[in-house]
Formats: sequence, structure tokens, C-alpha cells
Amino acid sequence: MRLPRRKFLSAVGLMTAGATMAQAEPTRSASNIVRVAVIGTGVRGKYLIGNLPESVRVTAICDCAALRTSSTLEPQGPFAAVLQPFKDRDAAKCAVYQDYRRLLDREKLDAVIIATPDHQHTLPAMLALQAGLDVYLEKPLSVCIREGRLLVDLVKRTGRMLQVGSQQRTMEINRFACDFIRNGGLGKISRVVLPSYPGPLPVPSLAAEPEIGGVDFDLFCGPTPLRPHHRQLWMKEDFKVGSLLWRGWDLFRDYSGHLMTNWGAHSVDMVQLALGRDHTGPVEVQASQPESLTALAALWKDKTPGPVGDASDRRFWPVTMKYADGVELQFAHGPDFVVFHGEKGVLKMRRNYFETDPPDLIVNRPNAAAFDKWKGSGHVARPHLENWLDAIRTGAPLNAPVEAGHRTVTVCHLANLARELNRPLKWNETREAFIDDAQADSALTRPRRAGYELPPLG
Ligand SMILES: NC(=O)c1ccc[n+]([C@@H]2O[C@H](COP(=O)([O-])OP(=O)(O)OC[C@H]3O[C@@H](n4cnc5c(N)ncnc54)[C@H](O)[C@@H]3O)[C@@H](O)[C@H]2O)c1
Repeated sequence: MRLPRRKFLSAVGLMTAGATMAQAEPTRSASNIVRVAVIGTGVRGKYLIGNLPESVRVTAICDCAALRTSSTLEPQGPFAAVLQPFKDRDAAKCAVYQDYRRLLDREKLDAVIIATPDHQHTLPAMLALQAGLDVYLEKPLSVCIREGRLLVDLVKRTGRMLQVGSQQRTMEINRFACDFIRNGGLGKISRVVLPSYPGPLPVPSLAAEPEIGGVDFDLFCGPTPLRPHHRQLWMKEDFKVGSLLWRGWDLFRDYSGHLMTNWGAHSVDMVQLALGRDHTGPVEVQASQPESLTALAALWKDKTPGPVGDASDRRFWPVTMKYADGVELQFAHGPDFVVFHGEKGVLKMRRNYFETDPPDLIVNRPNAAAFDKWKGSGHVARPHLENWLDAIRTGAPLNAPVEAGHRTVTVCHLANLARELNRPLKWNETREAFIDDAQADSALTRPRRAGYELPPLG
């Protein structure tokens, strides 16, 4: 049985005199209302707030940029409709913070939703867990492998419910297709072909711009080096080209693994689930020069800036991985399906869709209602949030537990590392370390700026 927070804090020795007494209140009101704070109220944070069921009260929001919290309380444009229920129910009484550490110290909460950029995932999640809170943490789980493992360990130790924001794990169609493959529907799987998601660019030297939007840029940089303020580093939507190209933090290595960890976190997640690899990973990884970098990069042209220079721009290079049983992962093509090749046929999968060859491989397909549930605003994450809330209330199993999210993003990090290091890597998936490769091992952690270190976790 899950302990209420007061008992939990005292059980793990965190309820010391004077320490976060606000958190030491009884967990839930009789009405079973869950009090939630949302950290990071950019695009995703706003959609998640708008997708919360009525049984949740958003009692606090936090963003390092005042513009983002004010546009949550007084939403405009496409967010006006999405956030209307929040505006009606919670906005007037909602506390507003810039620094999540102050929020976690002061607010009486049951849970937090974290939708900050990727470099700001592990620290707020750990502090929330240590405060006895349940956590919904957006994917990708981490920007480096060791921090992900530390987070997994802390979730185990605290017994809190951490749902990773990989909503495809809750989508009926994707679950059905993954179960079909895992239960042998395609026969023995030989290989899975995925898009060759581009990796990140180094942070460019940008001349300082005056701060805008009430941003505290020190808080934005967080554990990464403090850089001169520039809009391009944090205002993702202002640098969109077409509907899909992000040129904000998502592009740069300090803050993200770019499309390899952003979109890869969804499709690799499906591969890990379908192959039953949620507690393990590949053992060999290698990036290789494509026959034509120009042709491969052209497939990504409206999704990311093109290659710089010649074939030595390795962030597009295809990557091949092998699991211990010989199944191959080939990150090889443009933005497209994930394609599972088995003895009995082929299954192509993307979000909320799959097809097979031969077409009659699956007779009893899920009905149309299962697709429709995810259309429109429901597409964002409501059933996935509901799964998390069920887990909080009843201890029901999470669809996207922390170990699975960590193992998935580990595969994505391995792909980016193989490109960066430009040599074959051997991975010990049990110890989560490279084999006889101290240089590669040094990339498993990242330095953290003073003031943003991880908390003592012992
Ligand atoms: N599950 C999905 O399908 C899905 C979809 C979109 C985004 N995401 C994930 O959600 C996260 C956010 O993405 P986004 O598109 O909303 O980005 P965004 O840039 O629109 O929003 C991020 C917000 O976090 C704020 N922030 C940065 N540092 C902070 C800090 N220290 N404290 C508080 N706030 C801070 C920024 O000011 C910004 O408002 C990413 O990790 C992304 O991968 C997931």
C-alpha cells in the first residue's frame, strides 16, 4: 500500500524540523482532489494543464519566464480554448513562481507535472520526489544516461508514482501493435528500421540581447553553462520554420539531443515495448557515413537545419545497433514509420496508426473509437494523465514507468554518442557502462553548474 505523504516523509527521514513543512500535510482531501503544480508552462505545459480532468486542481504554476505564466493565466490564440477549463476552475487562486525550488518548498501539493526543456528534467523531478510528491515528467527523461539511472533509483526508493510523458504507451492502437509483436504475431523479429533522427548542434556564439518576456535566464540555463541571453536559445516558437522546425533550445546539445531524443523518445519507446526490452538495451552501437549525406539530409530539410560542410557533419549519419540476441535496430531513413521485420511479415507503426504486410496478418483490429479518442485536444495526453492519476489514487500500474523511459532515452543517447565519437561502441546494458572505453564512459554524465547540482540521494 502506498503511504500517505506525512508517513512517507517520516519513513524516509525527510520530515525534519523546519524542513518543507508545507509538504508534510495530509495527502488528499476527502473528495479525492489531486493538487498539482505545473513546472514549465510553455507549449506542452499549457496543453497538459488543458487536458487535466476535473478531479485535479492546478494550485500553482511555475516558469522561469513571466511571459509564460501570464499567458497561462490569461491565454490567447489557440490556448484560449485549451485553457478555458483551467481559467474557470483554478486560475484565480493559482500561485505563480519563477523558481521551482521555492514552489516545492512553499506549496501544499500532491503531485507535479514537469514540462520544462530536457536539461531541466532530472533536478526538479528529484526534488519533487524527495518532497514526497508524485511526478508526471515529460519525455525525454534525461540529457545524460547516469542522471536517468539516479532518477530511477530515487523513484524506487521513494515509492512515488512517476509517469514519463510518453503518451503512445497509452494509445490503444500502439499498445495493440506492440502487444501483437511481443506475443509473436510477426514471428521472430530480425530487424527494426527507424528514422535516422538528426542529433543536436553545439550552442552557437550569439551576441547578448536584452532579456525579454520577464525571463530569468540564469534559471533557464540551470545546470548548463550560463550564457549571454539570446531569444533563440529559449523562445522555440519564434524560430519555427514551417510547421515543424524548432530552432530554440531543442536544437542545441546543452539543452537537448534534438530530434534523436525528441521524436526518438516516442518511436524507440515503441520498439523497446514491442520487443519486450524495457529493462535492457542494445549491446553494440555504430554510426556510419551514408552513401549520400545530401540525399539523407534532404529528407529532413523542413525539420532541422541542413548539414554544415561535407559528410563530416555526423549528426545525420545512420546508426546501427544490435541487441544481445542479434535483433538489429537501423536508424536509416527520413521521418517516417518504424518498420518491424519478422518471419511472418512486416508491421509499420507511427503514432495512433499501424499497417501490416500482408494486410490480413491481423484479423481482429481495434475499432475506430480507439483511434478517435486521441484526435483533437484528447490527442495531447488526457488518457495518459488519467493513467497516472489512477496510479496515484489506487496504485494501478503506470503505462510509462521510469525504468522504461530511462531505457528508451538511453538508446537515443547511445545513437548520438556513436555519431559524436565516430567509432563502434560496446555497451554493457546491465552495468550501463561502455566496455573498456573510458572516453565514452565520460560522456555518461554532464557537469552541472554550481547552484544546480543534484541533491544528495543517499
Ligand atoms: N509528450 C509529447 O508528445 C511532447 C510534446 C511536446 C513537448 N514535449 C516535451 O515537453 C517539454 C517542453 O517542451 P515545450 O515544447 O513545451 O517547450 P517550450 O519551450 O514551449 O516550454 C518550456 C518552458 O519551460 C520553461 N523553463 C525553462 N527552464 C525553466 C526552469 N528552470 N523553471 C521553470 N520553467 C522553465 C521555459 O521558459 C518554457 O516556457 C520538452 O521536454 C519536450 O520534449 C513532449
